Amino acid sequence: MIQTSPKTQIFNHPDRFIEGWYWLLRCRDLRVGQVKAVSLLGRNLAVYRTIKGNVVAMDAYCPHMGAHLAEGRVEGESLRCFFHNWKFTADGHCADIPCLEKKLPIKLQTWPVKEAYGLIWLWTGTDPKLPLPFAPELEEEAVDAQVSKIFIKECHPNVVMVNAIDAHHFNTVHNFPVEIKFKSDIINPNVITFNNITKGGEDSWFVRLIKPLYKEEATYNMCYWYGSVGTVTLGPDFLHFYIMFALRMLENGKTEGATILMTKRRPGLLGWLFNQFVLFVTALVGNYFAKGDTQIFKTIKFNLKTPIWADQSILEFIHHVEHQQGLTWGSWHSIDIKQNS
Ligand code: FES
Ligand SMILES: [Fe+2]
Repeated sequence: MIQTSPKTQIFNHPDRFIEGWYWLLRCRDLRVGQVKAVSLLGRNLAVYRTIKGNVVAMDAYCPHMGAHLAEGRVEGESLRCFFHNWKFTADGHCADIPCLEKKLPIKLQTWPVKEAYGLIWLWTGTDPKLPLPFAPELEEEAVDAQVSKIFIKECHPNVVMVNAIDAHHFNTVHNFPVEIKFKSDIINPNVITFNNITKGGEDSWFVRLIKPLYKEEATYNMCYWYGSVGTVTLGPDFLHFYIMFALRMLENGKTEGATILMTKRRPGLLGWLFNQFVLFVTALVGNYFAKGDTQIFKTIKFNLKTPIWADQSILEFIHHVEHQQGLTWGSWHSIDIKQNS
């Protein structure tokens, strides 16, 4: 045993999550002039696309009498409540009350939103402190991306996330012939990376087979954003694959996730065709990844009671999660946590 099991206040907590970007809807599921009810992390929202094509997310219930604003209709850049027709602008101000001449100083809470990778994302605070998640190698790149899957898991998003850095399970579940080792780097308080630094393994035919494809270590890098979005970078030196797993917590600490395949945008029709092929292969890689653990996620009651050296990366992840800004399910109020270290 290398450490005692950590006492956690955010990690794997069914009523807490980290302030960050979370996906709401697929972009294509919100057409111009459409409004939808979305429940995110215990909060009910009305999300609409304005006539100019912008997405607006606001708290769901009308400040007049509590009607759900997703029953309403989009009017230009604003949203009109179905019940008594009060109108709210994209920044939440009440702009019109049909039976009242003067305006009331009422403002609905709205939330910052962005569209990327085929999804609409929402920042769960008032002021986004981070860019949208990206794979580090693609930071400066335009990307082609596809949402390949929306999925549910029976366990907490943090628990799904640590699977990708659970060193020993690569041998036991995914039949890897070498012991995997990671090196972690904290990029900023909300972003941590784990890069594969595994050496050796030449006595395995598998390692001998793939050895000519890379210089130092085979690329397998994880980059985590606020404990809920993980980007995987993997593959031989000449072609890296990128998969983003964007998770959000459901009631009772379960997970709904989106798998996003991405690659660097390549010019021209040939570039586009090549990218379709790359994304197709990326999907196969992603499926292979996800397959072995499915059953575990259905029944696990995560409790790292007995950490050993092979669980080091998981402990580092937990530590990193615990030092981020926690928010409460539903209210999205900040949680004040007294840190021990
Ligand atoms: S409840 Fe919305 S206008 Fe009355
Ligand atoms: Fe796995």
